[in-house]
Amino acid sequence: MARCSATQLGVLVLVLSTSYAVASLTVDMQLEQLRNNYVKLEQVLATKDSRLEFLEQKVQQHGNLEAQITQLVNEVNQMKTQVRRTAELELKVQRQEYLINAVHGESRSHNNVSLRQGTTQMPKSCADLKNNGHTSNGMFLIMGVKMVETVFCDFSKPTSDQNFQKWIGFADVKSSPVYFHAQRIGNYGAANTGIPFNQLRLNVGGALNPVTGVFLAPKAGRYFFAYSGLSWDSNAKVQLQMKSATVGWFKIGEAHCTPFNTFALQSILDLKQGDEIRIIHIHGVIHDRDGNNFSNFVGLLLEEDIFGC
Ligand SMILES: *[C@@H]1O[C@H](CO)[C@@H](O)[C@H](O)[C@H]1NC(C)=O
Ligand SMILES: *[C@@H]1O[C@H](CO)[C@@H](O)[C@H](O)[C@H]1NC(C)=O
Repeated sequence: MARCSATQLGVLVLVLSTSYAVASLTVDMQLEQLRNNYVKLEQVLATKDSRLEFLEQKVQQHGNLEAQITQLVNEVNQMKTQVRRTAELELKVQRQEYLINAVHGESRSHNNVSLRQGTTQMPKSCADLKNNGHTSNGMFLIMGVKMVETVFCDFSKPTSDQNFQKWIGFADVKSSPVYFHAQRIGNYGAANTGIPFNQLRLNVGGALNPVTGVFLAPKAGRYFFAYSGLSWDSNAKVQLQMKSATVGWFKIGEAHCTPFNTFALQSILDLKQGDEIRIIHIHGVIHDRDGNNFSNFVGLLLEEDIFGC
């Protein structure tokens, strides 16, 4: 380099200063560019800011919506409860109306003979009940062959469905009660005669004649009878006898015993209206002398043939 000429040096200076000018120009431009960039950045940020604000609003609105939805759900639930209550009340009112109508109809039909003797048939099935206008499912009484029966009717099913009518059982309906409990005061020794019962504890329905000791079946059905007594100082023999419209007195059961012993008879009988029952003394003496109530004759109607007899 020591051998460089002045010209060479001048050229070098020129080159250097030119480079400096170029360099300083570039810095200015870069500054300008930076400023521009900064402005742009500010604009972008401002846009972002407003976008953010918008989003914040959205989020807030969303929160409000959530609260509104919760409130609506609550209101719907309340309405559902009210609707259910209204339906329940309607059902109650319907039931009461039905009962009132039934009671009115009942009292009318009781008071008005022409209504009782109308063409209305007793229902024999759920299908009959449906024809008569029943629509509410439930347990109903229907007319069986001989007795009143209970069935469950599901009117929501077609008549042909096997679950349309479900048989529950016989309804223990008696047109009126029949039962008695009879005892004796005093010894009884008349051979081959029906035993009279001169001390009645109960004679509901009045079917036992205490003077003759004969029970007259007031209606057809199954009856239970039992008799027990004590013999006096000899062997004794008694019988439970029955008499029907076509057959005279015949033996159902017989009991014997040695002196001062117990004899007993029991039976369950299918009787027609008008059939008769008695305890007959065959021989010996029946002991009721000291008021100890040794003789006990009881009877009761177990089930009555309400229809078909
Ligand atoms: C009984 O019912 C018949 C038939 O519905 C009716 O014509 C009659 O007026 C009623 N009688 C009474 C006393 O209600
Ligand atoms: C037998 O029955 C009658 C009538 O109920 C009663 O007065 C009497 O005291 C009874 N006899 C005994 C020993 O309990």
